[in-house]
Amino acid sequence: MLKAVLIVLGIIIIIACGYGVYHSRLLKAKNNAEMEKYRKGQIVLDKNFGRVLVVYYSKSGNTKKVAEIIKEKTNGDIYEIEIDVNYSNGFVKTAIEARKQTKTKKYPELKNALPDFTAYDLIFIGSPVWSYTVTPPVLSFLQSADLSGKTVVPFAAFEGNAGNFFKDFKDNAGNAKVLDGFTVFSALKENQTALENKITDFLNGIDIL
Ligand SMILES: Cc1cc2nc3c(=O)[nH]c(=O)nc-3n(C[C@H](O)[C@H](O)[C@H](O)COP(=O)(O)O)c2cc1C
Repeated sequence: MLKAVLIVLGIIIIIACGYGVYHSRLLKAKNNAEMEKYRKGQIVLDKNFGRVLVVYYSKSGNTKKVAEIIKEKTNGDIYEIEIDVNYSNGFVKTAIEARKQTKTKKYPELKNALPDFTAYDLIFIGSPVWSYTVTPPVLSFLQSADLSGKTVVPFAAFEGNAGNFFKDFKDNAGNAKVLDGFTVFSALKENQTALENKITDFLNGIDIL
């Protein structure tokens, strides 16, 4: 009996792992296909957004990279969301800690004073996708910041599944005017040209009126 249970368990684990690998390859292929058009040439920014602020939280550098490109392209200012107590190392530990904060709505304390939002016409806010939603540090920022009347563009670094990210972002952004956002696949940081082109293409498509 025990042997049979172990065999069934083994088969389930093999199928689950196989599906995981297949799914991540599928996402990579989808991303590659989407990015093909951005790999050559240089897309030029044809918009002026006025005074721009780029806000971001990043644990392993991907969102930071996107934020820095937006800052550079728009000639904006940048503000990094830093938290008092950092997450533990390792995916599982971080996921558990973050999930607890999201569930209880007890978000981490911000380390630095907030910027003066009145000085800006457009605010980009970036976060990695964690467990299909916005990271607690960015939720903490959204809770603390008064963005009433401000136009905000969310963006996210992810591995292919943004889940409820943009809906959750909007639900937590108070009275800000939240425009459509965009995602950047983590693997993209390996291709600077494609990354810059994708971001510039997105920026050109923003309609702030
Ligand atoms: C705790 C945790 C949960 C994650 N959950 C998701 C997810 O639900 N969907 C997804 O596409 N990527 C997920 N990722 C991958 C990150 O979004 C991705 O690696 C991102 O580029 C990290 O950004 P950063 O380098 O700015 O921290 C998760 C990563 C971590 C650490």
